[in-house]
Amino acid sequence: MANPTILIVEDEAKMRRLLELDLGEAGFETLSAPDAETGLALLRKDQVQLVLTDLKLPGMSGLEFLQAAKRLYAAMPVIVMTAYGTVETAVEAMKAGASDYVLKPFSLAEMRLVVQKELDVRRLREENRSLREALGQRYNYANVVANSPAMQEVLALVERVAPTPSTVLLGGESGVGKDLIARVVHQRSSRASGPFIKINTTAIPETLLESELFGYEKGAFTGATTSKPGKFELADKGSLFLDEIGDVPAVTQVKLLRVLQEREFERLGGTRTLKVDVRLIAATNRDLRAALEQGTFREDLYYRLNVVPIDIPPLRAHKEDIPDLVNLFLARYAKASGKSFTGIAPEALDKLLEFHWPGNVRELENIVERACALANGPMLEAIDIRLDSGRAKPHDSAASLLPEGKTLDQWEDEIIREAYRRANGNKSQAARLLGLSRNALRYRLEKIGIPDEPEKEAPAK
Ligand SMILES: Nc1ncnc2c1ncn2[C@@H]1O[C@H](COP(=O)(O)OP(=O)(O)OP(=O)(O)O)[C@@H](O)[C@H]1O
Ligand SMILES: [Mg+2]
Repeated sequence: MANPTILIVEDEAKMRRLLELDLGEAGFETLSAPDAETGLALLRKDQVQLVLTDLKLPGMSGLEFLQAAKRLYAAMPVIVMTAYGTVETAVEAMKAGASDYVLKPFSLAEMRLVVQKELDVRRLREENRSLREALGQRYNYANVVANSPAMQEVLALVERVAPTPSTVLLGGESGVGKDLIARVVHQRSSRASGPFIKINTTAIPETLLESELFGYEKGAFTGATTSKPGKFELADKGSLFLDEIGDVPAVTQVKLLRVLQEREFERLGGTRTLKVDVRLIAATNRDLRAALEQGTFREDLYYRLNVVPIDIPPLRAHKEDIPDLVNLFLARYAKASGKSFTGIAPEALDKLLEFHWPGNVRELENIVERACALANGPMLEAIDIRLDSGRAKPHDSAASLLPEGKTLDQWEDEIIREAYRRANGNKSQAARLLGLSRNALRYRLEKIGIPDEPEKEAPAK
C-alpha cells in the first residue's frame, strides 16, 4: 500500500514546515495548507488518510474546519493541535469528532506517535468491519468461552486491537470478564513476553494510589525509608491494567493524563523525569459517561482512554455460552474438590439457562463451584444448583420484600457474608459487589464479627 497521506492545516509557516519535514521523514506523504479554506479544497481534491489541524486559524476556525471535514469524510481521523491552557477547546473538538489532540508545544516524537496510533485505529476499525461482514473466522483462546455471536464480536475486536499500541477501555457489568479480556489483550500483543501489571484503584487507599502508580524516592514522605518503583515503571515494555478507572480521585486523574499525553512522569519526591513504554488497558463497571456529566471524571482523560472501547456483554445477553462455561468450571472445581463428574443433568442446566445472572460469569462460576462441593452423584443435579433467587429480578416488585422469617438485619448480614465469600475474602471486591465503600463494608463486617484482617489478594484467574 502507498504511504498514507496526511493533510496539515497550520497557519504558522515555521510550524507547518517542521511538521511536513518530520512526518515526511517518518514515511508519510504530506499536503499542507495555511488556512481551513485551502485545507478543504485539498481534502476534496486529493486522497487523504488523516488530517492534522491547528485550532486557531485565520478565517474559518479549526473547529469549523473539523466539522466540515467530518461532513465530507465521517471516518477520517482528525487530530487537533492546540496551545497549553486551552484544553477545553481540545475537549470541544473531541466532542465534535476529533480523534485526538496534542497540546503545543509538543515533541515531534509525540506527534508521530499520535498520528501512527490514529492510523492504526482507523485501519483496525475498517478491518474489523470487513471481518464482521466476512464472518466465518472464529476465535478460540484457552480458558475463554466465547462461542456466542456477542462474544465472538468482542474477541474479533480484541484480536484487531491487541497488536496496536492503542489504549483499550474495557466496559461491562461486574463479573462479565473484564479482567480475563484484559489479559487476552496483553497475550495477543507484541508485548506478551513483557510484564502484565494490574492495579485496582479501589483496592488501594487514595493516599497510596499515587505512590503505587508512580513510585517514590527515599524520604518522599514519612515512612519512605527506601525508594520504590511504581506500577508504571514495572510495566515498562508491557501492559498496565488499570482496573476501576472510574474511581480514580481527581488529583490522580491529572497525573494520569500527563502520562498518557507525554508518556513521562516523576516518582513522588523525585526530580528525575522517567519515560516508559507502556500499553494501557483500563476497565470500568461504572458508566464513565455519567461520571463525566456529574463532573467526577475529567473529560480530557476520558477521551484519552476511550481510544478503543470494548464492551463486554452481560451473561444474560449470551446465554448460549452457559453450557461451555459450566463445563469449564466443572473441570476446574471437580479437580479442586477431588471428585469427578460426568457432566450436568439437563434439568440442572435448564435451571442455569433460565436464571438472569445479575452477577454474570463470576456468579455462574461460584454457583458451579458450590454445586461441585454439594454434589454426590456422578452428575451435577438440579438440587445441587443453589441459585440466589432471593434476589428478585429487576422490575419484579410484587413479591414480599424480605425472605420469609428474616429480619432486615439478618438479611443484611447474610448478603454481606455472601458477598465476602464470593469475593474470596477480598474486601474491595466484596465492597464493589455490594456497592459500598470499603470503610462502610469494614464497619459492617466488624459488626457481624468478621475481623479486619490484612487484605487478601483477589482470587487468581
Ligand atoms: N468468557 C469467559 N470464559 C471463561 N471464563 C470467564 C469468562 N468470562 C468471565 N470468566 C471468569 O469469570 C470470573 C469473573 O471474571 P472477571 O474477573 O474477568 O470479571 P470482571 O468483569 O473483571 O469483574 P469485576 O467488574 O467484578 O472486576 C473469572 O474467574 C473469569 O475467569
Ligand atoms: Mg475485574
